[in-house]
Amino acid sequence: MGPIESRWLASPERRRAIQKLTAWAAAAPALSAQRDPVRPHPRFPKLEELLSPLDFEPVAHARLPRFSYDYTAYGSDGEFTLRRNRDAFDWVKLIPSSSGAAAELNTATELFGTRLTSPLLISPTAAHVHMHPDGELATYQGATAANTPMIVSTNTSVPIEKIAPTAKGQLWFQLYPREDMESNREMLERAQAAGAKAIVVTIDQQAAEYERALHDRHLGAPITSTARRASSRQSGEPSNPYRIREFRLWYEWGLFAKLRPMIKVPMIAKGILTAEDARLCLEHGLDGVYVSNHGGRSIDYGPSTLEVLPEIAAAVNGRVPILFDSGVRRGSDALKALALGATAVCLGRMPRWGLGAYGSQGVQRSLELLQAELAAAMRYTGRTTLASIDRTLVRTDFP
Ligand SMILES: Cc1cc2nc3c(=O)[nH]c(=O)nc-3n(C[C@H](O)[C@H](O)[C@H](O)COP(=O)(O)O)c2cc1C
Repeated sequence: MGPIESRWLASPERRRAIQKLTAWAAAAPALSAQRDPVRPHPRFPKLEELLSPLDFEPVAHARLPRFSYDYTAYGSDGEFTLRRNRDAFDWVKLIPSSSGAAAELNTATELFGTRLTSPLLISPTAAHVHMHPDGELATYQGATAANTPMIVSTNTSVPIEKIAPTAKGQLWFQLYPREDMESNREMLERAQAAGAKAIVVTIDQQAAEYERALHDRHLGAPITSTARRASSRQSGEPSNPYRIREFRLWYEWGLFAKLRPMIKVPMIAKGILTAEDARLCLEHGLDGVYVSNHGGRSIDYGPSTLEVLPEIAAAVNGRVPILFDSGVRRGSDALKALALGATAVCLGRMPRWGLGAYGSQGVQRSLELLQAELAAAMRYTGRTTLASIDRTLVRTDFP
């Protein structure tokens, strides 16, 4: 190829000529007559066809707007912790056993004085209305049908007073504490009047910037903090170039002494990832420790929750219940967490996929499938009661 041809190959004129040719071809009646029209032919499986809790996410993906799917699926920054939450379950082996398998299986437990038929709960997650028009009402009805307590988020799309009368299950409430104690009091009074059986106080995500991740992924979601930043510039407030949400940076342990008089039910701290913080929970009078990294949505490059669970269980030493979440998708995952020290296991995204795919029935079925898997895993390992589940059930291979 000579120099003239090489220049022509890279020239803008050549690109423009190709563009014109393809535009002409696309509009040509002879070609369009031959085109097989591409129309979506979605076939959503019937609910009964779904056989594993993992089946719900693809259906929800097919049904939901892109923004709703991504808002639920994503993790912070490079999603290292999001992936590690799942990977960690691969690093724990269950030890099979045939002894005891014939005994009657019982997954019942007691948590804060209430009897549960299984040690599973729904983690607090925001804005269920993104997943289904009935939002938290559908989740609560599905959860109740599957005998599973639901923790309602501060950022619920339906007020807790409206959720509570729609089923006869168990509701808890999650608080994102505010610096203004009166607004905490008001939220806590409302939640307890609506029947919340426990209060979960989330203390991670101090510096989270959700909109940043949404923006990076070109999701087309409203970039609210950009608007906020613009308005704060106009009002003369200092700018926030690192996009850190300052409104949670004031958290300190004295918070719990201030909240305690407002809470008449058990108070649990959510977002604990170290033995030291677990010990501080006990010192500050918490009734429960909730091991969570917000499903990989808090600081990235933090550890998976399964890896830190044993050290936290050792620090707590049975004095208060330990709740656990982040990455649980299957019954065997729940069993591994119970073996490593969790008292109960919470599910964030999993029931959201059920909700997005089939509404309240999807929530119910996804939970029931997970319960069935937990029962099966208990049978394989010869543990027929929760009391018989302990460290000897697993071999850990954390790197
Ligand atoms: C879409 C979404 C919204 C969430 N909203 C909240 C919230 O409002 N309050 C809270 O304490 N945690 C929230 N979380 C964290 C969950 O409570 C829980 O820690 C996490 O989902 C567990 O991980 P998993 O989704 O892998 O089960 C949210 C998580 C997701 C995925």
